[in-house]
Amino acid sequence: MSVGAAASSAVRMDDVVSLCARRGLIWQSSEIYGGINGFWDYGPLGVELKNNLKALWWQKVVRERDDVEGLDSSIIAHPRTWEASGHVEHFSDPLVDCKACKKRMRADQLDDAGACPARQGTSEHDWTPARNFNLMLKTFVGAQEDAAATAYLRAETCQSIFLDAKRVRESARQKIPFGIAQIGKAFRNEINPRNFTFRSREFEQAELEFFIHPNEREKWFEHWLDQRVAFHRALGFGDDALRVRPHRPDELAHYAKAAADIEFLFPFGWQEIEGVHDRGDWDLRRHGEFSGKDLSVTDEQTKERFTPMVIETSVGVDRTCLALLCNAYAEEKLDDGETRTVLRLPSAIAPVKAAVLPLAKKIGEPAQRIAADLRRSFNVFYDEAGNIGRRYRRQDEVGTPYCITYDFESETDGKVTVRERDSMTQERIPVEGLRAHLLDRLEKAR
Ligand code: GAP
Repeated sequence: MSVGAAASSAVRMDDVVSLCARRGLIWQSSEIYGGINGFWDYGPLGVELKNNLKALWWQKVVRERDDVEGLDSSIIAHPRTWEASGHVEHFSDPLVDCKACKKRMRADQLDDAGACPARQGTSEHDWTPARNFNLMLKTFVGAQEDAAATAYLRAETCQSIFLDAKRVRESARQKIPFGIAQIGKAFRNEINPRNFTFRSREFEQAELEFFIHPNEREKWFEHWLDQRVAFHRALGFGDDALRVRPHRPDELAHYAKAAADIEFLFPFGWQEIEGVHDRGDWDLRRHGEFSGKDLSVTDEQTKERFTPMVIETSVGVDRTCLALLCNAYAEEKLDDGETRTVLRLPSAIAPVKAAVLPLAKKIGEPAQRIAADLRRSFNVFYDEAGNIGRRYRRQDEVGTPYCITYDFESETDGKVTVRERDSMTQERIPVEGLRAHLLDRLEKAR
Protein backbone atom coordinates (compact mmCIF):
# COMPACT_ATOMS: atom_id res chain seq x y z
CA MET A 1 0.00 0.00 0.00
CA SER A 2 1.30 3.46 -0.77
CA VAL A 3 0.17 6.04 1.72
CA GLY A 4 -0.35 9.49 0.28
CA ALA A 5 -0.99 11.35 3.52
CA ALA A 6 -1.21 15.01 2.73
CA ALA A 7 0.30 17.76 4.85
CA SER A 8 -2.47 20.19 5.74
CA SER A 9 -1.04 22.89 3.46
CA ALA A 10 -1.52 20.46 0.54
CA VAL A 11 -5.10 19.66 1.56
CA ARG A 12 -7.71 21.60 -0.39
CA MET A 13 -10.18 23.54 1.69
CA ASP A 14 -12.99 22.59 -0.73
CA ASP A 15 -12.43 18.89 0.02
CA VAL A 16 -12.66 19.45 3.78
CA VAL A 17 -15.76 21.64 3.45
CA SER A 18 -17.48 19.15 1.17
CA LEU A 19 -16.66 16.18 3.45
CA CYS A 20 -18.03 18.13 6.43
CA ALA A 21 -21.35 18.81 4.69
CA ARG A 22 -21.68 15.34 3.14
CA ARG A 23 -20.98 13.43 6.35
CA GLY A 24 -22.91 15.65 8.74
CA LEU A 25 -19.99 17.31 10.52
CA ILE A 26 -20.51 21.03 9.82
CA TRP A 27 -22.63 23.02 7.38
CA GLN A 28 -23.92 26.55 6.98
CA SER A 29 -26.64 27.57 9.38
CA SER A 30 -30.18 28.12 7.99
CA GLU A 31 -29.29 26.30 4.76
CA ILE A 32 -32.90 25.99 3.58
CA TYR A 33 -33.20 29.81 3.62
CA GLY A 34 -29.98 30.19 1.62
CA GLY A 35 -27.72 30.30 4.69
CA ILE A 36 -26.69 33.11 7.01
CA ASN A 37 -23.16 34.37 6.60
CA GLY A 38 -20.78 33.67 9.49
CA PHE A 39 -22.95 31.10 11.31
CA TRP A 40 -22.45 27.33 11.27
CA ASP A 41 -24.26 24.21 12.47
CA TYR A 42 -22.45 21.15 13.82
CA GLY A 43 -24.31 17.96 12.89
CA PRO A 44 -24.34 14.56 14.63
CA LEU A 45 -20.65 13.83 14.03
CA GLY A 46 -19.52 17.46 14.33
CA VAL A 47 -21.01 17.93 17.77
CA GLU A 48 -19.25 14.75 18.97
CA LEU A 49 -15.92 15.96 17.62
CA LYS A 50 -16.35 19.41 19.16
CA ASN A 51 -17.47 17.99 22.53
CA ASN A 52 -14.43 15.67 22.56
CA LEU A 53 -12.11 18.63 22.02
CA LYS A 54 -13.81 20.66 24.76
CA ALA A 55 -13.69 17.69 27.16
CA LEU A 56 -9.98 17.23 26.51
CA TRP A 57 -9.32 20.94 27.15
CA TRP A 58 -11.39 20.82 30.36
CA GLN A 59 -9.53 17.69 31.48
CA LYS A 60 -6.09 19.25 30.94
CA VAL A 61 -6.81 22.81 32.08
CA VAL A 62 -9.28 22.24 34.93
CA ARG A 63 -9.51 18.65 36.18
CA GLU A 64 -5.83 17.74 36.17
CA ARG A 65 -4.92 20.84 38.21
CA ASP A 66 -5.83 21.89 41.71
CA ASP A 67 -5.08 25.57 41.01
CA VAL A 68 -7.80 26.05 38.34
CA GLU A 69 -11.59 26.29 38.87
CA GLY A 70 -14.33 26.06 36.24
CA LEU A 71 -17.09 28.57 35.46
CA ASP A 72 -20.15 28.79 33.22
CA SER A 73 -21.31 32.40 33.22
CA SER A 74 -24.22 34.03 31.38
CA ILE A 75 -23.64 35.17 27.79
CA ILE A 76 -25.15 38.59 28.48
CA ALA A 77 -23.43 40.54 31.24
CA HIS A 78 -24.17 43.97 32.70
CA PRO A 79 -23.53 46.49 29.87
CA ARG A 80 -21.04 48.40 32.04
CA THR A 81 -18.79 45.32 31.68
CA TRP A 82 -18.07 46.26 28.08
CA GLU A 83 -17.46 49.91 28.88
CA ALA A 84 -14.94 48.92 31.55
CA SER A 85 -13.23 46.38 29.27
CA GLY A 86 -12.78 49.01 26.55
CA HIS A 87 -14.92 47.13 24.00
CA VAL A 88 -17.57 49.84 23.59
CA GLU A 89 -14.91 52.39 22.75
CA HIS A 90 -12.24 50.38 20.97
CA PHE A 91 -13.47 47.00 19.73
CA SER A 92 -13.79 47.95 16.08
CA ASP A 93 -12.39 47.24 12.62
CA PRO A 94 -11.90 49.81 9.82
CA LEU A 95 -14.76 49.43 7.32
CA VAL A 96 -14.96 50.63 3.69
CA ASP A 97 -17.75 50.39 1.08
CA CYS A 98 -17.38 50.36 -2.70
CA LYS A 99 -19.54 53.24 -4.00
CA ALA A 100 -20.05 51.40 -7.31
CA CYS A 101 -20.89 47.78 -6.38
CA LYS A 102 -21.70 48.31 -2.64
CA LYS A 103 -19.23 45.63 -1.56
CA ARG A 104 -18.29 46.04 2.12
CA MET A 105 -14.76 45.12 3.25
CA ARG A 106 -12.33 45.49 6.12
CA ALA A 107 -9.91 48.22 5.04
CA ASP A 108 -6.94 46.01 6.01
CA GLN A 109 -8.13 43.11 3.80
CA LEU A 110 -8.68 44.82 0.44
CA ASP A 111 -6.37 42.38 -1.36
CA ASP A 112 -9.20 39.84 -1.06
CA ALA A 113 -11.85 42.12 -2.61
CA GLY A 114 -11.42 40.96 -6.23
CA ALA A 115 -12.50 43.07 -9.21
CA CYS A 116 -15.43 45.48 -9.05
CA PRO A 117 -18.29 44.07 -11.14
CA ALA A 118 -19.89 47.51 -11.54
CA ARG A 119 -16.83 49.30 -12.98
CA GLN A 120 -16.00 47.40 -16.14
CA GLY A 121 -13.76 50.25 -17.38
CA THR A 122 -11.22 50.03 -14.56
CA SER A 123 -12.50 46.98 -12.63
CA GLU A 124 -11.13 48.70 -9.52
CA HIS A 125 -13.41 49.41 -6.59
CA ASP A 126 -14.27 52.97 -5.61
CA TRP A 127 -13.77 52.77 -1.84
CA THR A 128 -15.20 55.22 0.69
CA PRO A 129 -12.77 56.47 3.38
CA ALA A 130 -12.42 53.95 6.23
CA ARG A 131 -14.67 54.35 9.26
CA ASN A 132 -14.65 52.42 12.51
CA PHE A 133 -17.24 49.67 12.88
CA ASN A 134 -17.87 48.24 16.35
CA LEU A 135 -17.85 44.44 16.26
CA MET A 136 -20.09 43.79 19.26
CA LEU A 137 -23.55 42.37 18.59
CA LYS A 138 -26.26 44.29 20.40
CA THR A 139 -29.61 43.28 21.75
CA PHE A 140 -32.25 44.68 24.12
CA VAL A 141 -33.10 43.30 27.52
CA GLY A 142 -36.66 43.86 28.78
CA ALA A 143 -39.71 45.34 27.09
CA GLN A 144 -38.15 48.64 25.99
CA GLU A 145 -35.98 48.99 22.89
CA ASP A 146 -33.97 52.05 23.83
CA ALA A 147 -30.42 52.95 24.84
CA ALA A 148 -31.08 52.11 28.50
CA ALA A 149 -32.11 48.55 27.54
CA THR A 150 -29.13 47.91 25.25
CA ALA A 151 -27.02 44.89 26.11
CA TYR A 152 -24.26 43.05 24.26
CA LEU A 153 -23.69 39.42 23.36
CA ARG A 154 -20.25 38.78 24.83
CA ALA A 155 -17.36 39.40 22.44
CA GLU A 156 -15.05 37.21 24.54
CA THR A 157 -15.85 34.78 27.32
CA CYS A 158 -13.21 36.07 29.73
CA GLN A 159 -14.88 39.26 30.95
CA SER A 160 -17.29 37.41 33.25
CA ILE A 161 -14.32 35.56 34.71
CA PHE A 162 -13.01 38.93 35.92
CA LEU A 163 -16.44 39.91 37.30
CA ASP A 164 -16.68 36.60 39.17
CA ALA A 165 -13.02 36.29 40.22
CA LYS A 166 -13.52 37.32 43.86
CA ARG A 167 -16.52 35.07 44.42
CA VAL A 168 -14.82 32.06 42.80
CA ARG A 169 -11.61 32.62 44.79
CA GLU A 170 -13.45 32.91 48.08
CA SER A 171 -15.99 30.12 47.54
CA ALA A 172 -13.37 27.67 46.20
CA ARG A 173 -10.90 28.76 48.93
CA GLN A 174 -8.20 29.44 46.36
CA LYS A 175 -5.14 31.63 46.85
CA ILE A 176 -3.03 33.49 44.29
CA PRO A 177 -1.73 31.98 42.03
CA PHE A 178 -4.89 30.32 40.73
CA GLY A 179 -7.00 30.34 37.58
CA ILE A 180 -10.59 30.31 36.34
CA ALA A 181 -11.50 28.52 33.12
CA GLN A 182 -14.58 28.76 30.94
CA ILE A 183 -15.79 27.38 27.62
CA GLY A 184 -18.60 29.16 25.83
CA LYS A 185 -20.01 31.06 22.91
CA ALA A 186 -18.70 34.46 21.86
CA PHE A 187 -20.13 36.77 19.20
CA ARG A 188 -18.48 39.26 16.87
CA ASN A 189 -20.15 41.07 14.02
CA GLU A 190 -17.21 40.34 11.70
CA ILE A 191 -17.26 42.46 8.53
CA ASN A 192 -16.06 39.57 6.36
CA PRO A 193 -16.61 36.13 7.85
CA ARG A 194 -14.51 33.73 5.76
CA ASN A 195 -12.53 30.54 5.36
CA PHE A 196 -15.37 28.24 6.45
CA THR A 197 -15.64 28.32 10.28
CA PHE A 198 -12.29 30.09 10.70
CA ARG A 199 -13.74 33.58 11.01
CA SER A 200 -17.36 33.36 12.14
CA ARG A 201 -19.81 35.70 13.82
CA GLU A 202 -20.74 33.16 16.48
CA PHE A 203 -17.99 30.88 17.77
CA GLU A 204 -16.76 29.13 20.89
CA GLN A 205 -13.77 30.04 23.00
CA ALA A 206 -12.05 28.07 25.76
CA GLU A 207 -10.36 30.62 27.99
CA LEU A 208 -8.27 30.52 31.14
CA GLU A 209 -7.51 33.60 33.24
CA PHE A 210 -4.69 32.82 35.68
CA PHE A 211 -4.29 35.32 38.55
CA ILE A 212 -0.74 35.87 39.83
CA HIS A 213 1.51 38.09 41.92
CA PRO A 214 3.05 40.96 39.86
CA ASN A 215 6.56 39.55 40.44
CA GLU A 216 5.75 36.29 38.65
CA ARG A 217 4.56 37.46 35.25
CA GLU A 218 7.35 35.99 33.15
CA LYS A 219 7.37 32.63 34.93
CA TRP A 220 3.64 32.03 34.47
CA PHE A 221 3.56 33.35 30.91
CA GLU A 222 6.24 30.79 29.95
CA HIS A 223 4.47 28.05 31.92
CA TRP A 224 1.16 28.55 30.17
CA LEU A 225 2.65 28.98 26.71
CA ASP A 226 4.49 25.66 27.19
CA GLN A 227 1.33 23.94 28.44
CA ARG A 228 -0.71 25.14 25.53
CA VAL A 229 1.85 24.20 22.88
CA ALA A 230 2.05 20.72 24.46
CA PHE A 231 -1.75 20.46 24.22
CA HIS A 232 -1.71 21.19 20.48
CA ARG A 233 1.22 18.81 19.92
CA ALA A 234 -0.84 16.07 21.60
CA LEU A 235 -3.59 16.78 19.06
CA GLY A 236 -1.12 15.64 16.40
CA PHE A 237 0.05 19.05 15.10
CA GLY A 238 3.71 18.58 14.15
CA ASP A 239 6.48 21.15 13.57
CA ASP A 240 5.39 21.63 9.98
CA ALA A 241 1.84 22.55 11.05
CA LEU A 242 2.21 24.49 14.33
CA ARG A 243 4.34 27.45 15.33
CA VAL A 244 4.48 30.13 18.03
CA ARG A 245 4.60 33.75 16.92
CA PRO A 246 5.52 36.16 19.72
CA HIS A 247 3.96 39.60 19.29
CA ARG A 248 6.27 42.46 18.37
CA PRO A 249 6.37 45.31 20.94
CA ASP A 250 4.30 47.52 18.58
CA GLU A 251 1.54 44.84 18.44
CA LEU A 252 1.12 44.61 22.21
CA ALA A 253 -1.83 46.25 23.96
CA HIS A 254 -0.56 49.13 26.11
CA TYR A 255 -1.19 47.16 29.33
CA ALA A 256 0.33 43.88 28.07
CA LYS A 257 3.87 42.80 28.83
CA ALA A 258 3.95 39.81 26.46
CA ALA A 259 1.73 37.96 24.01
CA ALA A 260 2.15 35.10 21.58
CA ASP A 261 -0.07 33.55 18.95
CA ILE A 262 -0.12 29.80 18.46
CA GLU A 263 -0.55 29.40 14.72
CA PHE A 264 -1.60 26.48 12.52
CA LEU A 265 -0.79 26.06 8.84
CA PHE A 266 -4.26 25.96 7.23
CA PRO A 267 -4.71 25.40 3.48
CA PHE A 268 -5.15 29.21 3.34
CA GLY A 269 -1.89 29.92 5.23
CA TRP A 270 -0.54 30.31 8.78
CA GLN A 271 -3.27 31.61 11.07
CA GLU A 272 -3.83 32.04 14.81
CA ILE A 273 -5.76 29.36 16.66
CA GLU A 274 -4.85 30.46 20.19
CA GLY A 275 -3.52 33.53 21.94
CA VAL A 276 -1.49 33.52 25.17
CA HIS A 277 -1.49 36.98 26.73
CA ASP A 278 -0.08 38.75 29.74
CA ARG A 279 -3.02 41.11 30.40
CA GLY A 280 -1.40 42.74 33.43
CA ASP A 281 -3.91 44.15 35.95
CA TRP A 282 -5.89 45.99 33.26
CA ASP A 283 -9.16 44.06 33.57
CA LEU A 284 -9.40 43.78 37.35
CA ARG A 285 -8.34 47.41 37.79
CA ARG A 286 -10.94 48.66 35.27
CA HIS A 287 -13.77 46.54 36.71
CA GLY A 288 -12.74 47.71 40.18
CA GLU A 289 -12.98 51.33 39.03
CA PHE A 290 -16.27 50.96 37.14
CA SER A 291 -18.05 48.85 39.80
CA GLY A 292 -16.61 50.65 42.81
CA LYS A 293 -15.70 47.24 44.30
CA ASP A 294 -12.27 46.41 45.67
CA LEU A 295 -10.87 43.52 43.59
CA SER A 296 -7.41 43.54 45.17
CA VAL A 297 -6.12 40.70 47.39
CA THR A 298 -3.89 40.42 50.46
CA ASP A 299 -0.77 38.30 50.58
CA GLU A 300 -1.29 36.35 53.82
CA GLN A 301 2.40 36.19 54.68
CA THR A 302 3.60 39.70 53.85
CA LYS A 303 0.18 41.38 54.33
CA GLU A 304 0.89 43.18 51.06
CA ARG A 305 -2.24 44.33 49.23
CA PHE A 306 -2.12 44.14 45.43
CA THR A 307 -4.26 43.75 42.32
CA PRO A 308 -3.41 40.39 40.73
CA MET A 309 -1.90 40.30 37.26
CA VAL A 310 -3.47 37.97 34.69
CA ILE A 311 -2.00 35.48 32.25
CA GLU A 312 -4.63 34.43 29.71
CA THR A 313 -4.84 31.49 27.33
CA SER A 314 -7.62 31.84 24.76
CA VAL A 315 -8.24 29.15 22.16
CA GLY A 316 -10.90 29.10 19.46
CA VAL A 317 -12.77 25.79 19.69
CA ASP A 318 -14.10 26.05 16.13
CA ARG A 319 -10.71 27.03 14.73
CA THR A 320 -9.05 24.11 16.48
CA CYS A 321 -11.75 21.73 15.15
CA LEU A 322 -11.02 23.08 11.67
CA ALA A 323 -7.27 22.64 12.21
CA LEU A 324 -7.90 19.05 13.37
CA LEU A 325 -9.95 18.30 10.26
CA CYS A 326 -7.37 19.84 7.90
CA ASN A 327 -4.54 18.02 9.69
CA ALA A 328 -6.37 14.69 9.59
CA TYR A 329 -7.67 14.76 6.02
CA ALA A 330 -5.85 12.48 3.60
CA GLU A 331 -6.51 10.76 0.32
CA GLU A 332 -4.61 7.52 -0.10
CA LYS A 333 -4.05 5.40 -3.17
CA LEU A 334 -4.45 1.74 -2.25
CA ASP A 335 -2.81 -1.32 -3.83
CA ASP A 336 -6.03 -2.23 -5.63
CA GLY A 337 -5.95 1.13 -7.42
CA GLU A 338 -8.80 2.59 -5.39
CA THR A 339 -8.49 5.83 -3.45
CA ARG A 340 -9.70 6.08 0.10
CA THR A 341 -10.41 9.30 2.00
CA VAL A 342 -9.40 8.98 5.61
CA LEU A 343 -9.59 11.33 8.58
CA ARG A 344 -6.60 10.44 10.74
CA LEU A 345 -8.04 12.09 13.84
CA PRO A 346 -6.53 11.35 17.26
CA SER A 347 -8.81 8.72 18.78
CA ALA A 348 -9.67 11.01 21.72
CA ILE A 349 -11.16 13.44 19.19
CA ALA A 350 -12.74 10.99 16.72
CA PRO A 351 -16.56 11.41 16.79
CA VAL A 352 -17.15 7.64 16.77
CA LYS A 353 -14.65 5.31 18.46
CA ALA A 354 -15.83 2.02 16.98
CA ALA A 355 -18.23 0.80 14.30
CA VAL A 356 -19.87 -2.62 14.66
CA LEU A 357 -20.49 -4.19 11.26
CA PRO A 358 -22.12 -7.65 11.03
CA LEU A 359 -21.23 -9.36 7.77
CA ALA A 360 -24.88 -10.16 7.08
CA LYS A 361 -28.21 -8.93 8.42
CA LYS A 362 -29.14 -12.41 9.66
CA ILE A 363 -26.30 -12.30 12.23
CA GLY A 364 -27.30 -8.79 13.29
CA GLU A 365 -28.63 -9.72 16.69
CA PRO A 366 -25.37 -10.80 18.40
CA ALA A 367 -23.59 -7.86 16.70
CA GLN A 368 -26.17 -5.50 18.19
CA ARG A 369 -25.51 -6.98 21.62
CA ILE A 370 -21.78 -6.21 21.14
CA ALA A 371 -22.59 -2.63 20.10
CA ALA A 372 -24.83 -2.17 23.17
CA ASP A 373 -22.05 -3.38 25.45
CA LEU A 374 -19.43 -1.10 23.85
CA ARG A 375 -21.83 1.88 24.07
CA ARG A 376 -21.53 1.72 27.87
CA SER A 377 -17.99 3.07 27.43
CA PHE A 378 -17.82 5.14 24.23
CA ASN A 379 -19.62 6.31 21.10
CA VAL A 380 -20.42 3.42 18.75
CA PHE A 381 -21.94 3.29 15.27
CA TYR A 382 -23.85 0.23 14.08
CA ASP A 383 -24.28 -0.53 10.38
CA GLU A 384 -25.50 -3.74 8.80
CA ALA A 385 -26.28 -2.53 5.28
CA GLY A 386 -24.16 -2.98 2.16
CA ASN A 387 -20.80 -4.18 1.04
CA ILE A 388 -18.26 -4.50 3.89
CA GLY A 389 -15.49 -2.68 1.96
CA ARG A 390 -17.80 0.29 1.40
CA ARG A 391 -18.80 0.25 5.07
CA TYR A 392 -15.10 0.41 6.06
CA ARG A 393 -14.58 3.38 3.70
CA ARG A 394 -17.48 5.27 5.20
CA GLN A 395 -15.94 4.88 8.65
CA ASP A 396 -12.44 5.85 7.42
CA GLU A 397 -13.94 9.03 5.99
CA VAL A 398 -15.18 10.18 9.41
CA GLY A 399 -12.11 9.00 11.31
CA THR A 400 -13.51 5.98 13.24
CA PRO A 401 -10.40 4.31 14.74
CA TYR A 402 -11.81 0.74 14.93
CA CYS A 403 -14.23 -1.32 12.86
CA ILE A 404 -15.49 -4.56 14.40
CA THR A 405 -16.76 -7.20 12.03
CA TYR A 406 -18.98 -9.98 13.29
CA ASP A 407 -18.92 -12.86 10.76
CA PHE A 408 -20.16 -16.42 10.49
CA GLU A 409 -17.06 -17.75 12.25
CA SER A 410 -17.81 -15.51 15.20
CA GLU A 411 -20.84 -17.70 15.85
CA THR A 412 -18.55 -20.63 16.64
CA ASP A 413 -15.20 -19.18 17.84
CA GLY A 414 -16.66 -16.26 19.85
CA LYS A 415 -14.23 -13.82 18.19
CA VAL A 416 -14.61 -10.73 16.01
CA THR A 417 -12.27 -9.02 13.55
CA VAL A 418 -10.96 -5.65 14.72
CA ARG A 419 -9.69 -3.46 11.87
CA GLU A 420 -7.52 -0.46 12.66
CA ARG A 421 -8.20 2.69 10.61
CA ASP A 422 -4.69 3.93 9.75
CA SER A 423 -2.81 0.69 9.11
CA MET A 424 -5.95 -1.20 8.00
CA THR A 425 -4.49 -4.26 9.82
CA GLN A 426 -6.97 -6.77 11.17
CA GLU A 427 -6.84 -9.07 14.20
CA ARG A 428 -9.21 -11.60 15.78
CA ILE A 429 -10.24 -10.65 19.31
CA PRO A 430 -12.53 -12.61 21.69
CA VAL A 431 -15.92 -10.92 22.15
CA GLU A 432 -15.47 -11.41 25.85
CA GLY A 433 -12.99 -8.71 26.83
CA LEU A 434 -13.48 -6.74 23.59
CA ARG A 435 -14.58 -3.61 25.45
CA ALA A 436 -11.56 -3.72 27.79
CA HIS A 437 -9.27 -4.37 24.80
CA LEU A 438 -10.59 -1.33 22.89
CA LEU A 439 -10.60 0.89 25.99
CA ASP A 440 -6.96 -0.03 26.56
CA ARG A 441 -6.01 0.82 22.99
CA LEU A 442 -7.97 4.08 23.03
CA GLU A 443 -6.35 5.05 26.33
CA LYS A 444 -2.83 4.23 25.02
CA ALA A 445 -3.43 6.38 21.95
CA ARG A 446 -4.22 9.47 24.07
N1 GAP B 1 -9.95 37.03 25.43
C1 GAP B 1 -8.96 37.19 24.43
C2 GAP B 1 -9.49 37.05 23.07
O1 GAP B 1 -10.69 36.97 22.86
P1 GAP B 1 -8.78 36.91 20.57
O2 GAP B 1 -7.41 36.78 19.97
O3 GAP B 1 -9.64 38.00 20.07
O4 GAP B 1 -8.52 37.04 22.14
C3 GAP B 1 -9.02 34.35 20.96
O5 GAP B 1 -9.55 35.53 20.42
C4 GAP B 1 -9.29 33.18 20.03
O6 GAP B 1 -10.68 33.13 19.70
C5 GAP B 1 -8.56 33.28 18.69
O7 GAP B 1 -7.25 32.76 18.77
C6 GAP B 1 -9.44 32.45 17.80
O8 GAP B 1 -9.09 31.08 17.89
C7 GAP B 1 -10.84 32.64 18.37
N2 GAP B 1 -11.58 33.63 17.54
C8 GAP B 1 -11.51 34.97 17.62
N3 GAP B 1 -12.32 35.54 16.71
C9 GAP B 1 -12.92 34.52 16.04
C10 GAP B 1 -13.88 34.45 14.96
N4 GAP B 1 -14.40 35.53 14.42
N5 GAP B 1 -14.26 33.23 14.53
C11 GAP B 1 -13.76 32.10 15.08
N6 GAP B 1 -12.86 32.11 16.09
C12 GAP B 1 -12.44 33.29 16.57
